[in-house]
Amino acid sequence: MVTFSPRFLDEIRARIVLSELIGRKVKITRAGREFKACCPFHKEKTPSFTINDDKAFYHCFGCGAHGDVIGWTMQYENRSFPEAIEQLATMAGLEIPKQSPQEVHRAREQKNLYQLMDDATQFMEDQLRDIKHRAAYDYILGRGLSEETLCSFRVGYASDDRQALYHHLKSKDYNDAQMIEAGIIRKDKNGAPYAFFRERIMFPVSDKRGRIVAFGGRILPDHLLAPSGGDYKPAKYINSIDTPLFHKGRMLYGAAHANYAAREGDPVIVTEGYMDVISAWQAGLRGAVAPLGTALTEEQILELWRMIPEDNKMPILCFDGDAAGRRAALRAAERALPLLKAGHSLKFMFLPDGEDPDTFLRHNGANTFHNLLKQAEPLVNFLFQHETANKDFPTPEERAGLNHRLDEYVKRIPDRDVQYYYQSAFRQKTNGLFQNSFQTGKSRFKGKTFTPNNVKIQNDTNRSRKNTAERILIATILKHPQIFVEVEERLGMLKLSHPALENIRSALFTIGDPEIKLDFQELKSHLISVGLEGDLSYTLNDSVLTDAGFIETSQDVSEILQNWDMYWGFIETYSQKEGLHSS
Ligand code: UTP
Ligand code: MN
Repeated sequence: MVTFSPRFLDEIRARIVLSELIGRKVKITRAGREFKACCPFHKEKTPSFTINDDKAFYHCFGCGAHGDVIGWTMQYENRSFPEAIEQLATMAGLEIPKQSPQEVHRAREQKNLYQLMDDATQFMEDQLRDIKHRAAYDYILGRGLSEETLCSFRVGYASDDRQALYHHLKSKDYNDAQMIEAGIIRKDKNGAPYAFFRERIMFPVSDKRGRIVAFGGRILPDHLLAPSGGDYKPAKYINSIDTPLFHKGRMLYGAAHANYAAREGDPVIVTEGYMDVISAWQAGLRGAVAPLGTALTEEQILELWRMIPEDNKMPILCFDGDAAGRRAALRAAERALPLLKAGHSLKFMFLPDGEDPDTFLRHNGANTFHNLLKQAEPLVNFLFQHETANKDFPTPEERAGLNHRLDEYVKRIPDRDVQYYYQSAFRQKTNGLFQNSFQTGKSRFKGKTFTPNNVKIQNDTNRSRKNTAERILIATILKHPQIFVEVEERLGMLKLSHPALENIRSALFTIGDPEIKLDFQELKSHLISVGLEGDLSYTLNDSVLTDAGFIETSQDVSEILQNWDMYWGFIETYSQKEGLHSS
């Protein structure tokens, strides 16, 4: 018998659109995302035959006929499997690969490996529901996953029995070599087979088409483990080794679910782990995926783009708000630069420190998560913010240094068009940041003298008064983003006395004009999501709001601006007295 490699068959399925193939022989009509027809395989008056191009199969609800392009050709045109392949390959412009005996053997083995992985998955699903493993089942239910979710992701359990899986697969006629090749059975030094995953909640990893290719296993909380003695502490998660079906750096956990969701228009979201993907899916964020315990690879970025059918491909990378999350984000950004092209980019969002999507969703609900998603930063903003947040650029050399670093990013974008626009975006942003702030006394506001006699500042030293005034200026913008444009230039000129204030200012400049995008609540959750929660409460604390009551009470823009001017004037006067320049 001729055997074809799964890759070759996939290529055929990818190149031929099922509805077009069937449409040549049968009258079909569109019905939403699918097509309908009167079933060609049984007699009927009302159509119960459906064609789904996304899933690439047809199904008849009347007689149960079911298949893909190959199945259709065999069934409708009455061809044998190799004949059908030959016909379709010609149609798709593919050459039928001449196969060596080794390749023939290999293709058959691969097919068996898929089947083996599926049988193993089934076994683990049954084990999870076995009364003996009640504790494991309770643990995973206790994490808030429903039975429906568990079934959808085919979550299972590997018990402490070293040989149960081996005997099960043996009873299904798999041989030892196959089980070892699949990475789920190993042999000890005496040659006795044992299960690689034991006492773990099992997360099967599937490819985009839903075929199981690997596993991740999570350890149970300590008290559920059988006492082992000694201090040996196993890893929280272990993953399958690379096998003929599985290459860690190429796969994304959740790819099958997300691929389907992306085709329905859901955003694709990259999280860190198994539980994040599953919790997100259960909360209705169906486009979640995760790399498998490694940083995002180039191949995974390309795969994310392939999953998104829209012209503008913007998967959203979601990171922890802590330092490690920021580092991981930068790594992903740097990895993406050489790959950027028209319509292909990334967005970045950060969760509050200490939260992952799983816990965040549990604490704050899906709506809050959605709001954070909406405010995810495009790659260009993320890079700019990374270089400018927390930093000050008072001298020409420091400004040149910033430009140099930004140029380094630009140079790494090989696509000419995208490169050009990155360069202009960075230029525009640096101009905004540097605006006028070399000036030492020539600002257009100079000359107006403000008497801060009704400036109600309780702290006693001038220095802390200035600090309070700075907080008031920024707090006012946060609460009333509509004044941003008016005060932007002066905001850039302020020599702020605390890093928290600088962070908030940089974030405001990075957003651009917050009024266009955000009201106070949204602005607040954005600042929290980029890790500035602490800085925010420093800026907007109760005493500031008491000192400057107008912030809470006034809704009149000109009155708010008048107050803003007054505090600005106070800082000007103070800075001149102290010989400080407001640069
Ligand atoms: P985390 O340690 O953040 O775990 O690892 P988690 O995803 O939040 O899992 P729960 O909520 O505690 O159950 C994130 C991801 O890193 C990989 C896994 O893919 C995990 O989902 N990882 C983690 C490993 O591969 N090995 C480990 O030992 C730990
Ligand atoms: Mn977690």
